[in-house]
Amino acid sequence: MTETQSAAEYWENRYRENGKSWSGSANAALVREINGVAPGSALDLGCGEGGDALWLAHLGWSVTAVDIAPSALAIGAAEQQPGDDITWIAADLSDWLPPRSYDLVSSCFLHSTVDLPRERILRRAATAVAPGGQLLVVGHSGAPHWDAPEGHHHHAPEELPTPDEVLASLQLEDGDWDVLTNELVERPDARLGTTIDGILRLRRRVE
Ligand SMILES: C[S@@+](CC[C@H](N)C(=O)[O-])C[C@H]1O[C@@H](n2cnc3c(N)ncnc32)[C@H](O)[C@@H]1O
Repeated sequence: MTETQSAAEYWENRYRENGKSWSGSANAALVREINGVAPGSALDLGCGEGGDALWLAHLGWSVTAVDIAPSALAIGAAEQQPGDDITWIAADLSDWLPPRSYDLVSSCFLHSTVDLPRERILRRAATAVAPGGQLLVVGHSGAPHWDAPEGHHHHAPEELPTPDEVLASLQLEDGDWDVLTNELVERPDARLGTTIDGILRLRRRVE
């Protein structure tokens, strides 16, 4: 990455050059948390190559999948089956406003070694959860288990927050939300060894 490369250029180049970059499967934490929840509308933030979006769509969710890298979305769209209801949107979440509310807003591993206002994006995401709907935030927690590529900053601890820290940063109104899951979970990862995932799942109360 050069000094002048934007987040959009970095991620697009990364997917264009490397193709499929993650497992292609749904994240274990998403499966654990959402399997069995009645399907509705879902928003997947930073969907990458779409493993989560495809899994949700197979279960009958109507999915809006957003990522900054068009090449990542193309990998996901190529795997889409007839009947899967997925709208793929190439957008920078720094300035993308959800156009409606959703029964599920999911953010799994929305991390970046280039500029990413994650807290602001997640606060905005919470406002897009429909009454009775859920917000799922899954991320690496604690010290990074990987080396930053040359020219990138190393993740600072505050960029890999615990679920408690994520909850505090969301600045939610007292009494509007129920915490369904707030856990740190160890997970074997083929690339990174054992990692610690922070899982926060909230439900917006119906007034
Ligand atoms: C670590 S990957 C996770 C991908 C996927 N959610 C998963 O769990 O496999 C982070 C993703 O966030 C996307 N991303 C980074 N910054 C973004 C931004 N500002 N707006 C939208 N997507 C962004 C990247 O393109 C990348 O696909």
